[in-house]
Amino acid sequence: MKIQVLWLIGFLILHSMATITAKTQTLRTISYQFGPFDSSYYNTFAVMKPATISNDALQVTPDSIGNYSLNHRSGRIFFNRTFKLWDGDIKVASFNTSFLINVFRVNNSVPGEGVAFLIAPDTAIPPNSSGEYLGLTNSSSDGLPSNHLVAIELDTLKQDFDPDDNHIGLNINSIRSNKTVSLSKFNIQIAPNGTKFYVVWIEYYNKSLQVYMAEQAQPSSPTPSKPVVPVLNTDIDLSTFVKQYSYFGFSGSTGDHVQLNCVLKWNLTVEILPGQNKRNWFKIGLAIGVPLLLIFLLGIAGLSYYSYKKWKARSDPNILGALKSLPGTPREFKFRDLKRATNNFDDKHKLGQGGFGVVFKGLLQKENLEIAVKKFSRDIKGKDDFLAELTIINRLRHKHLVPLLGWCHKNGMLLLVYDYMPNGSLDAHIFCGPEKTTLNWNLRYKIISGVASALHYLHNEYDQKVVHRDLKASNIMLDSNFNARLGDFGLARAIENEKTSYAELEGVPGTMGYIAPECFHTAKATRESDVYGFGAVLLEVVCGQRPWTKIGEFQLLVDWVWWLHRERRILEAVDERLGNDYIVEEAERLLLLGLACSHPNASERPKTQVILQILSGSMAVPHVPPFKPAFILASMPGPDSFSISSSLTNTADITPVSSGWTPHYINRDVHGGEFSDASSLM
Ligand SMILES: *[C@@H]1O[C@H](CO)[C@@H](O)[C@H](O)[C@H]1NC(C)=O
Ligand SMILES: *[C@@H]1O[C@H](CO)[C@@H](O)[C@H](O)[C@H]1NC(C)=O
Ligand SMILES: *[C@@H]1O[C@H](CO)[C@@H](O)[C@H](O)[C@H]1NC(C)=O
Ligand SMILES: *[C@@H]1O[C@H](CO)[C@@H](O)[C@H](O)[C@H]1NC(C)=O
Ligand SMILES: *[C@@H]1O[C@H](CO)[C@@H](O)[C@H](O)[C@H]1NC(C)=O
Ligand SMILES: *[C@@H]1O[C@H](CO)[C@@H](O)[C@H](O)[C@H]1NC(C)=O
Ligand SMILES: *[C@@H]1O[C@H](CO)[C@@H](O)[C@H](O)[C@H]1NC(C)=O
Ligand SMILES: *[C@@H]1O[C@H](CO)[C@@H](O)[C@H](O)[C@H]1NC(C)=O
Ligand SMILES: *[C@@H]1O[C@H](CO)[C@@H](O)[C@H](O)[C@H]1NC(C)=O
Ligand SMILES: *[C@@H]1O[C@H](CO)[C@@H](O)[C@H](O)[C@H]1NC(C)=O
Repeated sequence: MKIQVLWLIGFLILHSMATITAKTQTLRTISYQFGPFDSSYYNTFAVMKPATISNDALQVTPDSIGNYSLNHRSGRIFFNRTFKLWDGDIKVASFNTSFLINVFRVNNSVPGEGVAFLIAPDTAIPPNSSGEYLGLTNSSSDGLPSNHLVAIELDTLKQDFDPDDNHIGLNINSIRSNKTVSLSKFNIQIAPNGTKFYVVWIEYYNKSLQVYMAEQAQPSSPTPSKPVVPVLNTDIDLSTFVKQYSYFGFSGSTGDHVQLNCVLKWNLTVEILPGQNKRNWFKIGLAIGVPLLLIFLLGIAGLSYYSYKKWKARSDPNILGALKSLPGTPREFKFRDLKRATNNFDDKHKLGQGGFGVVFKGLLQKENLEIAVKKFSRDIKGKDDFLAELTIINRLRHKHLVPLLGWCHKNGMLLLVYDYMPNGSLDAHIFCGPEKTTLNWNLRYKIISGVASALHYLHNEYDQKVVHRDLKASNIMLDSNFNARLGDFGLARAIENEKTSYAELEGVPGTMGYIAPECFHTAKATRESDVYGFGAVLLEVVCGQRPWTKIGEFQLLVDWVWWLHRERRILEAVDERLGNDYIVEEAERLLLLGLACSHPNASERPKTQVILQILSGSMAVPHVPPFKPAFILASMPGPDSFSISSSLTNTADITPVSSGWTPHYINRDVHGGEFSDASSLM
């Protein structure tokens, strides 16, 4: 028994020491930062015609300025030096690369064919490699192991072996990908109408390769933070495919359909493999050292046991362990940096306060990056909330969610770092008083559509269903382009998780008027109760009134709107500050949708899929009864749900509970957002 315990402890210590040495052993790497590209790059790059360098970009296939026809072209551009990518059979060099691309469809016509990041044994471009061959292979060489090619393709034209016309793929010696992932589910379109810039990150480490993609507004904008979730994740031992010395670069092609394949910036970091001799000595050292170390460690294991336990008790391995095991966790921030960024959590930097902590605005000096720092209260409960928030947000990525940049854990103090949303929260814009310019109709419609698509993502698209639980205008942030971004998943829990009860928290989270009537009885948050909250937000945005506004005899905004609907005067509900500057058909659609979502009976409310279809105009608004139906508890036998009776949703006796992230922006600058679309690079 005792011996076994000692073995276990010995193993644990050895294991933790191995981890420490792995951590402290810094990689020897060489890094390059290329771009903006001008003609001087012809000296260091192998630009294989008809590829050119022009317009500040690597034009992997000819651009529209050249004398070449754009059709049926293939090109390659490499950094003109090789890297040693493997050594013997144990060591494979890791590398990181990121590049900014613009794949431009000409004249809004169908794009084709694709562009790829490429590791190749030589820079020559195979003849007849246009069309489907992406400059990688041709009809006679495709699939041959002697190609020694590994590529990540961004494919915009569907061949019969492709899943669709907008995917990423891992290609080994062939244009028939070994693995493909459709990018549409990541809200990425490689070559959309108009101009979009994407950053692509490729990371190769421990024989595992991840590709990440994120949109960047303009070539001059700061690089967005790398998403948490890779678009492609695959295990691959490069040493079995590529030559020991290989080139890094790009290839691309056009066919009957054309596109411009532009690379605007490129970063490359490659591990420098240690020399042969060093490795042998290392091996011998390991062979002798490890058994000696083990014996020695077993000897001191007993002594260590006591202090190990003590250390364990203090350092809260639960949280740290959970954080470390998260896949692709956002980066860890130094407490020092966050303290400096927020001027020692100065009250002047306070954006808001809620049940879970305080939100501060900060500026990371080094990166010149504005951030929002959510500082949790110190108690144990706060830590659980922190973990709940982190494990969920960490895996959620959507253009209408507030992006998480990272976290910090110091002396029991827990902090989350988010992108700063320069336009603050939605409520600040709706309720900024009659004199100020308020949100115009198009923005309101865009914001509602954004919230709906984020909710749809949470409810359906992410593999673990998530309910937001606290949907309200103050939790909806606006980015610099006034896109809605859902924030505060502090209360979000996976539906599968049994802890969806409101009862576990003190008081009812969410805020009156946003809470579905059944929640007061069942104390459970559901997707349907989120839809109710969405309906409340929708009415709030269209009417410019808080959900709990008393209007005449009506206790809640929704009751008033329902009455107007019955009286066939529903358009009178539209925010009067808009005057006539709104689209009647859209306003009617939104108001009726708002009522449908506010149906007292959860099962009658539309699902997010339907909501999206209604918002896009591809589906008619469901019939809304003239009288607000009565609320009926599902377990209670009751009259027909459409019978006319007094409503139970009169919740005036319930005091609003403040929770979550409720910012009071000091700087309520409504202006300064950019509304213009990204203009074409060409
Ligand atoms: C690449 O560099 C080598 C020497 O460093 C040179 O001989 C060769 O011409 C270059 N290739 C291109 C395409 O620039
Ligand atoms: C296009 O053709 C003109 C005249 O034939 C020539 O001067 C120019 O260099 C060519 N441009 C390119 C990009 O080849
Ligand atoms: C690549 O980036 C990761 C962080 O994303 C880092 O841990 C790793 O050391 C980097 N590898 C190289 C070769 O630079
Ligand atoms: C390249 O690296 C620099 C310095 O780290 C960074 O500022 C820039 O955003 C990176 N660019 C891309 C496209 O990743
Ligand atoms: C795009 O449209 C212009 C003007 O209509 C035309 O001259 C040009 O050939 C078109 N380009 C392609 C690639 O279709
Ligand atoms: C792109 O624009 C063209 C013409 O304006 C249109 O026919 C096509 O449907 C658009 N495609 C997408 C994906 O928006
Ligand atoms: C394909 O490319 C190889 C060189 O990579 C070349 O030898 C061969 O002739 C090409 N095949 C065709 C059909 O062009
Ligand atoms: C391959 O390319 C050569 C010139 O590089 C051309 O003469 C030949 O017709 C091409 N073959 C096919 C099958 O396209
Ligand atoms: C995947 O890669 C292997 C090489 O490991 C290759 O032999 C095989 O044909 C590829 N599969 C597909 C579907 O392309
Ligand atoms: C490398 O990958 C293997 C499995 O593929 C895993 O067991 C091992 O822990 C990884 N090593 C590191 C240092 O990440």
